[in-house]
Amino acid sequence: MKLAVVGGGSTYTPELVDGFARLRDVLPVSELVLVDPAADRLELVGGLARRIFAKQGHPGRVVTTADLDAAVDGADAVLLQLRVGGQAARNQDETWPLECGCVGQETTGAGGLAKALRTVPVVLDIAERVRRANPDAWIIDFTNPVGIVTRALLQAGHKAVGLCNVAIGFQRRFAAALQVDPAQIFLDHVGLNHLTWETGVRLGGPDGQDLLPGLLAEHGDTIADSLHLPRTLLDRLGVVPSYYLRYFYAHDEVVRELATKPSRAAEVAAMERELLELYADPALDSKPELLAKRGGAFYSEAAVDLTASLIGSGGSRHQVVNAHNRGTLPFLPDDAVIEVQATVDAHGAHPLPVRELDPLYRGLIADVTAYEELALEAALRGGRDRVFKALLAHPLIGQYAYADDLTDRLLAHNREHLAWA
Ligand code: G6P
Ligand code: MN
Repeated sequence: MKLAVVGGGSTYTPELVDGFARLRDVLPVSELVLVDPAADRLELVGGLARRIFAKQGHPGRVVTTADLDAAVDGADAVLLQLRVGGQAARNQDETWPLECGCVGQETTGAGGLAKALRTVPVVLDIAERVRRANPDAWIIDFTNPVGIVTRALLQAGHKAVGLCNVAIGFQRRFAAALQVDPAQIFLDHVGLNHLTWETGVRLGGPDGQDLLPGLLAEHGDTIADSLHLPRTLLDRLGVVPSYYLRYFYAHDEVVRELATKPSRAAEVAAMERELLELYADPALDSKPELLAKRGGAFYSEAAVDLTASLIGSGGSRHQVVNAHNRGTLPFLPDDAVIEVQATVDAHGAHPLPVRELDPLYRGLIADVTAYEELALEAALRGGRDRVFKALLAHPLIGQYAYADDLTDRLLAHNREHLAWA
């Protein structure tokens, strides 16, 4: 089995390699190709990847290359984890929206739109080249904004599934709090990527007993603290929002906070420098502790599970993924991309039915879906007006004066990445 990781020079890659090494029974990788244009990083990350495989007795070969076409040739699955413009572009996304009093975040609000505009054309180009090399290959997308990128891939007819670690993170944390095996925890997870709520925490499977009320009663303070939201809000909602909902439920508070501290991109850039120094040490043969400070905790587990169900011997299983709606949420168009539980097998991801949703969540999901549709239009066709309309549709923006101001700033900061601007 051959896997290619596009953006393989990412400092996150050792996390993924560690997952492949540990879980090789379900996913027997014979060749892992890390492809990246940044030769220096790739060499450091590739070296550590080889040492992790060797230490864990993994027989697979790790290849590093800058040649995308060679990398995806014959690959059974291609994992996308790239960041167009790197942390420098992310830093901009997190900064200029604040100047208008709006949240500066890499996937939410105006910063997220900038990222989508930069990323969609690049990902579609890669996907075309994957399809040319092997029309049967699966594309697994972690590249943010995952909802919009997955929608772009599916709309262009690619064999793609989008993945995020928010659900597996909750699953692991809830399982630890309840002292049960994570595999026993089935989340009623619903919404769009980075706009989700856990509306039930079921024991054993989709029809299992709902442990959420008890979990909130006993561990509500810890859960609320981890989300930086008040416990009383969780009690009133009776569900657990993802931490991305804080950008909506506490928007102004977040803007005030962000204005007083360095951007997450700056923090991550510093961590990356430290990580690369560690990776350069030939004695290091496992993923370092420092990686745990990144947001992507458990992402290797989710990635291995998904890849194993699509192309390995993982069999069919329930997993939270990003896939076409096709009637699952009846208030959304069929071609919207939603993040829900699905059965994943060699034919792809098939969303499971979702219990009826409170209008409190339905409304926001519908608004953000409309924004995502307009954002994708802007990414595919360009033009100031399309950018403006996407921003006007976004529930965190909504006023024309803000949308105009943010459009100007977005374009000014992203011209080098936008062919049409
Ligand atoms: C979470 C999200 C990812 C995002 C990451 C950012 O894991 O699900 O989509 O990329 O956080 O983490 P970072 O350490 O880069 O801030
Ligand atoms: Mn994510």
